[in-house]
Amino acid sequence: MSAPAPATGKRRPKVSIVGAGMVGGSVAQTLAMRDYADIVLVDIVPGLAQGKALDILEAGPVLGFDTSLEGTDSYESTGGSDLIVITSGIARKAGMSRDDLLKTNMGIVRSVTEQAVRESPEAALIIVSNPLDAMCHVALEASGFPRTRVIGQAGVLDAARFRTFIAMELNVSVRDVTAFVLGGHGDTMVPLSRYSTVAGIPITELLAADRVKALEERTATGGAEIVGLLKTGSAYIAPGASVVEMIDAILLDQKRVLPCSVLLQGEYGVDDLFVGVPVKLGADGVEHIYDIPLTHVEQAAVQKSAAAVRDLVDTMRRLGSP
Ligand code: 2OP
Repeated sequence: MSAPAPATGKRRPKVSIVGAGMVGGSVAQTLAMRDYADIVLVDIVPGLAQGKALDILEAGPVLGFDTSLEGTDSYESTGGSDLIVITSGIARKAGMSRDDLLKTNMGIVRSVTEQAVRESPEAALIIVSNPLDAMCHVALEASGFPRTRVIGQAGVLDAARFRTFIAMELNVSVRDVTAFVLGGHGDTMVPLSRYSTVAGIPITELLAADRVKALEERTATGGAEIVGLLKTGSAYIAPGASVVEMIDAILLDQKRVLPCSVLLQGEYGVDDLFVGVPVKLGADGVEHIYDIPLTHVEQAAVQKSAAAVRDLVDTMRRLGSP
């Protein structure tokens, strides 16, 4: 990511990051280095957000950024944010699926969303907590925001993983690889090889079918692969970078086309469910949802993935939320 043009006397956009754990800290660090936004990092654990904020600020003289970054345990300083990133909740440990996090995280995400949007009613929300698509439902309901301003981060990360694996397989630069992943952020996600390319050439023309399948499967289990290696937590560096790509797209009005989890209302034959699809992200949040043509097999895979999200939403309803 190259740095944006310097500010021209206009107020710098304000971003609040809720949750100063590994992902929240990674978002704060990567965004601080971009040097165009004022950042507030919030966490209820005493000292955690303050400590991470100070540590990041102390890298400024070395790395050359002057970002304003405040760590706090209260929402007061977050007031008037243009964008709020919700990372709160427990993370996966070895052997846990993202869905195992449902019960604990739905209460946490509801509470932090309510507190954050009270201070910043016009903000866009980027949700990162897992299980991602279900937590987007909680945030939509808790905020009362329109669907254009509640956006789940998952597809950028999943596509980044797919791009990495394609580049490693073909020994080419990741810069020339584009990849597409549809569906929920879970084991049923749908890496779309037909729409994934190296310099415009579909990977299905460059790799044998069994290799394509292996890369798709590694992508779908990419989060679990990291959890299995780290043992004490889940990925945070690529997730943080992925969030910052979405922040840039919105705050710098870049009109990027990125896979994000959004509330579908008929697109892809899915109704009232957050599912990952390609969208245009700009100053107005989700400015367009691309409803691209799929084969029967691809459409069936998206429906299966949507059904997995529906199960989680139904479970949350039985538990009284959202
Ligand atoms: C991942 O896929 C944490 O869900 C995140 O790594």
